[in-house]
Amino acid sequence: MASVTIDRLQIRPLHPVLGAEVRGVDMRKPMDADTFKAVHDAWMQYLVLVFPEQRITDEEHVAFTRHFGEPEIFHQDIIKSRRVPEIFRVSNVDDDGILMPPDHPTVKQVSLAQFWHTDSSYRKIPCMGALLHGVETSKTGGETQFTNMYAVYDALPDSLKQQIAGRRARHDFGYLHKLAKLRPLTPEEEARMPPVWHPMVRKHPVTGRTSLYISPIYNDEIEGMEPEAAKKLVAQLAEIAEESRFVYRHRWSPDDVVMWDNRCTMHQVTPHDPRERRVMHRTTIVGTGPVLAA
Ligand code: OGA
Ligand code: MN
Repeated sequence: MASVTIDRLQIRPLHPVLGAEVRGVDMRKPMDADTFKAVHDAWMQYLVLVFPEQRITDEEHVAFTRHFGEPEIFHQDIIKSRRVPEIFRVSNVDDDGILMPPDHPTVKQVSLAQFWHTDSSYRKIPCMGALLHGVETSKTGGETQFTNMYAVYDALPDSLKQQIAGRRARHDFGYLHKLAKLRPLTPEEEARMPPVWHPMVRKHPVTGRTSLYISPIYNDEIEGMEPEAAKKLVAQLAEIAEESRFVYRHRWSPDDVVMWDNRCTMHQVTPHDPRERRVMHRTTIVGTGPVLAA
């Protein structure tokens, strides 16, 4: 696919329906208003942007994120960086640099990213997007796949569109713990992050476009449906969302930064050899408001 230059940015589409590589941005420096607008326009158009060769510190990562909004701070100590709290560590290596075994609770929780999801959908106001920095990238797997939920919604058969029209799904952080067979949440943890309900068909606050909104690792119920039927419906929708015509698969190089829009995509990571270190640092951008029904 041909590359185009817009406002000093070189943009190269990576897949027919989402994803573009962007060169011409140095994340170590503040962006001027024209560059910000060009990056933001590209983000809205391509949903997932890949910025290669960004040798950033965590502090620079957080500062770049602030161009787009407030960084979200993870509500548990697990996974959050001890040094820079805005950094969410998607890693099998702990804060002291020690490789953790696959049955370590942190690794088990991180491994849930192998299922399709959209980040922090269990919040009343889910995040807008995220930026993931490849610090130590995998050679045995650990590829991140993204799906375009606008295109998925458009492609749904009418019968499925009718089933989800006007319906809300429940998103429960505690459901992830059941799936991962982690310890159940304490009553205090549950009270801090109670389940929330979001429309299954949403309208993007910037583009105005309609997309499907599910997050299978958190969705345990759908309004007006028996729990078993709800889980079946979520699985059926997820199966369509993972068709390759909607999916860009990112193979990481060290110091890639990948930025995605959590309002119109889902993602998952492929497994990798647990003996191999994988260290990925994520910032997350707080959303601007509740999920809008389409
Ligand atoms: C995430 C996530 C996938 C990955 O950071 O939100 O799901 O590739 N990570 O590590
Ligand atoms: Mn994620």
